Amino acid sequence: MAEQQGYTLWFTGLSGAGKTTISHIVAEELTDRGSKLEILDGDVVRENLSKGLGFSKEDRDTNIRRIAFVADLLSRNGVPVITAAISPYREIRDEAREMMGDRFIEVYIEASVDACAERDVKGLYEKAFAGEIKEFTGVSDPYEEPLNPELTLKTEEEEPEESAAKLIAYLEEKGLLAPKE
Ligand code: ADX
Repeated sequence: MAEQQGYTLWFTGLSGAGKTTISHIVAEELTDRGSKLEILDGDVVRENLSKGLGFSKEDRDTNIRRIAFVADLLSRNGVPVITAAISPYREIRDEAREMMGDRFIEVYIEASVDACAERDVKGLYEKAFAGEIKEFTGVSDPYEEPLNPELTLKTEEEEPEESAAKLIAYLEEKGLLAPKE
């Protein structure tokens, strides 16, 4: 059997935009089709690899560089990866792109601050607007939108399943995933 090609689906977007939800749907579909996959989720990474880091620019950059380092190791050894961290700074995302070259696929999980605040799944936006959480992305800290992402998934306009299906179709189109029989 041919070696599987590794790649990194680099999700970026606000907290609550849908990164984790979409990553899980895509992961299920990929593993159903016999593909390998590893997910590096911001919330999970911050409990182990990046434990102790906060949300200053410096700490976020460190977090993202660690995620990029691991994604590079895995993807260059044939393991597809989804990273699901806010990764708010363009410069550091571009650093990851440079590191991984054509294995890097930037996926903008697009939703406005208003939409994410309305969902407020974790109750963090309410606290951020009340000033109880400092440096909260999109409220009191920057989010730099991607300028040229390979794919944009608009989660205010479509259900997570539709977004995941678009991403799967993209992988098929690029020859990174065999079409379903
Ligand atoms: S990143 O900026 O370093 O990429 P990451 O994705 O790992 O962020 O972590 C973001 C998650 O941490 C959010 O989904 C949210 O649950 C939590 N969080 C806690 N404080 C903040 C904050 N100040 N800004 C953004 N997210 C925060």
